[in-house]
Amino acid sequence: MQQIATLSSEKASYQLKMMWQGWDPQGKHVEVPIPIPKQNEILVKVEASSLNQVDWKMQKGYMRPLYPRKFPHIPVLDVAGEVIEIGPGVKNFKAGDKVVSYLGLQVGGGLAEYAVAKESLTVARPQEVSAADAAGLPVAGLTAHQALTDFAGIKLDGSGKRVNVLITAASGGVGHYAVQLAKLGNTHVTATCGARNIDFVKSLGADEVLDYKTPDGAALKSPSGVKYDFVVHCTTDIPWSTFKPTLSANGKVIDITPSTSTFMTFGANLLTFSKKQLVPMIVSAKRENLNFLVNLVKEGKLKTVIDSKYPLSKAEDAWDSCMRCHATGKIFVEP
Ligand SMILES: NC(=O)c1ccc[n+]([C@@H]2O[C@H](COP(=O)([O-])OP(=O)(O)OC[C@H]3O[C@@H](n4cnc5c(N)ncnc54)[C@H](OP(=O)(O)O)[C@@H]3O)[C@@H](O)[C@H]2O)c1
Repeated sequence: MQQIATLSSEKASYQLKMMWQGWDPQGKHVEVPIPIPKQNEILVKVEASSLNQVDWKMQKGYMRPLYPRKFPHIPVLDVAGEVIEIGPGVKNFKAGDKVVSYLGLQVGGGLAEYAVAKESLTVARPQEVSAADAAGLPVAGLTAHQALTDFAGIKLDGSGKRVNVLITAASGGVGHYAVQLAKLGNTHVTATCGARNIDFVKSLGADEVLDYKTPDGAALKSPSGVKYDFVVHCTTDIPWSTFKPTLSANGKVIDITPSTSTFMTFGANLLTFSKKQLVPMIVSAKRENLNFLVNLVKEGKLKTVIDSKYPLSKAEDAWDSCMRCHATGKIFVEP
């Protein structure tokens, strides 16, 4: 306990903090106090954090005025590490436990040596699951999971009806989890990615893979001629008119990159009683689902593919790489 108290009161820890100047944000490394966990929160010594496109989109001000709630802001939502201290009311964790947490859009804080996480969005990390393998899961894994289970109704134990699924940008953070989870659900998976990643996406289990830069890839045309019952849409700029002819009679596109046109098409399809649907989706993080994914990794049924790792001192390079949107798997920062 004495060690924990000493640490909490320590003011000098090198952390990375994104300083925001109005809506002209500029990131820089700064020293800040180690945060103190409040009611139902834990203090985590970060061993790995993973970047998501939402992090830089928030920095660019795309999510204003909702997020972030206050400035300056330490970005990044996904962390894995070790519990250092628990706040009042925490029941399931103690100092020394290995965990993975989703920090939440309101708070962030993952691009630092220490982060405060809610107990309700933290799960235990078994020793078989490395910090990076776990840190990739919260945003990207939960998004893939929610799209396939809640929105597509696919049973990931494979007990449901076999359906045809298209996954766009299958080589990226969300897509690479979505392919693996869809195969656990015994679906037929068509995937799109760039030419350099075709073998990689096949190795994840995709039944057929399209290069998105070819005419057939741009048209999302299944090589075997299947019509898609569900599309997990993980990239941008594909119009409804391209999706529509590729869908089965009741086919549904789950759009995780919704734009104004997504909402307009969604509304128009409702008004015209269209059986084919385009549905916007925003991830809603749930602890039980994160636990499910961590256990899949432990059992060897799901893997996190590492695009790259950067030290915290070079977090800006990780950030630039994330902004280029060409990751194969996930990008990590490690203190
Ligand atoms: N709604 C939500 O709650 C939610 C949650 C998570 C993510 N998202 C969004 O989902 C999107 C994907 O996230 P992510 O983390 O998976 O991104 P990511 O890891 O940055 O995706 C990069 C991958 O996408 C591939 N790609 C890019 N354009 C493509 C295209 N037109 N067709 C096929 N593949 C393409 C790239 O391949 P090449 O390098 O070969 O081009 C690269 O391998 C982002 O816009 C993100 O903001 C939304």
